[in-house]
Amino acid sequence: MEIYFDNSATTAPYKEVCETVADTMSRFYGNPSSLHRIGKAAEDLLNDCRESVARSIGASADEIIFISGGTESDNTAIIGYCMANKRRGNKIITSKIEHPAVLEAVKHLEQSGFEAVYLDVDETGKVDIEQLKSELDENTLLVSVMHVNNETGTIQPVEEIAAMVHSVGAVFHVDAVQSYGKIKIDVKKLGADLLTVSAHKVHGPKGVGALYIKKAVRISPVIYGGGQERGLRSSTENLPAIAGFAKAVDIMTDNFDIAVSAMGKIKAYFANKLKESIENIVVNTPEDSVCSVLNISFVGVKSEVLLHVLEDKGIYVSSGSACSSHKKGRSHVLTAMGKKDNVTDSSLRFSFCGSNTIEEADAAIAVLTEQVPVLSRIMR
Ligand SMILES: Cc1ncc(COP(=O)(O)O)c(C=O)c1O
Repeated sequence: MEIYFDNSATTAPYKEVCETVADTMSRFYGNPSSLHRIGKAAEDLLNDCRESVARSIGASADEIIFISGGTESDNTAIIGYCMANKRRGNKIITSKIEHPAVLEAVKHLEQSGFEAVYLDVDETGKVDIEQLKSELDENTLLVSVMHVNNETGTIQPVEEIAAMVHSVGAVFHVDAVQSYGKIKIDVKKLGADLLTVSAHKVHGPKGVGALYIKKAVRISPVIYGGGQERGLRSSTENLPAIAGFAKAVDIMTDNFDIAVSAMGKIKAYFANKLKESIENIVVNTPEDSVCSVLNISFVGVKSEVLLHVLEDKGIYVSSGSACSSHKKGRSHVLTAMGKKDNVTDSSLRFSFCGSNTIEEADAAIAVLTEQVPVLSRIMR
C-alpha cells in the first residue's frame, strides 16, 4: 500500500507528462535559438508551451518566461524588480509566512541596503491588512505576498492587497506556487504584476516553472548569458521539461473543477473524521483555506515520530513544509500564527491531489486513530 498525502511538497507527474518529456528529448532535441529547421521545430514547440502556460493564468505568451522553478522565479521577480527600479524606492514589504524562496531573497536585498518589512499574520495566517496599509508609502517599491501558504493552506486576500499596493504606485508579486491548479488564477483580475508558478506542484516535471511579468513591468535578470527568454533568464531552455509542464497544465485545465472538488471532499472528510475520533487535535488550517492542504496538530505526539509511524504503514505526509523540514527549528509559519510550541511541534501536513480517494483517507484515519493514543501515552 502506498498512500501519498504530500502533494504540496511535490506531485507525481502524470503518465502523459513522462511520455511528453521522453518524446521531446528524442524528437525535439534542437536548440530553440538555432536558425535551422531542427532549431525552428524546437522553437515552435517552445512557443506552443508558452501559449498553454500563459492561457492557464489569463496572461499573454509574451508575458511569460520559463525558469528553473518556483525558487528562481521568486528570486528573479523580487531581486530583478528591485535592482531594475531602485531609483523609484527602497522599501520591500512581504509577510512573515512566505516561503524561504521569498524570505531569503528579501533578506539578501536587505543586506544590499533595501528596507524590508515583514507583515504579521493573524491566528488563521492572514496578513495584517491594517499594518500593510500603514506601511505602504511612496518609498515602497515592491510587495510580495503568497496566494496560498504551503504549510497551512491559508488563502490571502490578494485582490484587496493588489489594489492597496497599486494605490501607492508599487508593484505586486504573488507566489502562486500552491494555488496554481487549486484556485483559478487570472493575473489581470487578481492584480498581479509578477506571479510565480512551478510545474512540479501540478504533476509536471521538477526544475521548471514560469514567471509572469506584466507588460511594461521592467526587471533585471538574475542570470546573465546568451539572452534567452527575452534576456531575462539566459540558458538554453529546458524544452523537455517545459513540454512536460505544458502537458501537465493542459491536463490541469481540462480537469480543474473535478480535481478541486475531489480534493475538497477528501480534505473535509479527513478533518471531520479525525476530529470525531482523536482527542487533543488542533486544526491549524482555517475553514476558508485551499482545497488541498490540511495541517493538524496531534498535541502530545512529536511530528517526526508520527510521520515515520505513518511511513511504516505506507502513508507519506510532511511535518511543516518539505522545503524546510530538514532544517532544525520550529515552523516559522505556525509560530507567526501564534501557535504554542506544543501545537507547532506536533503538526503534520496532509496535502491532497485530485486522484487521492476516500478509501485512502479511511486507511490513514485508521492508522492515526490507533497510533496517536498509544504514542501520546508513551511520550507523556
Ligand atoms: C509557496 C512556495 N513557493 C516556492 C516554492 C519553491 O518552488 P520550487 O520547488 O519549484 O523551487 C515552493 C515549494 O515548495 C512553495 O511551496
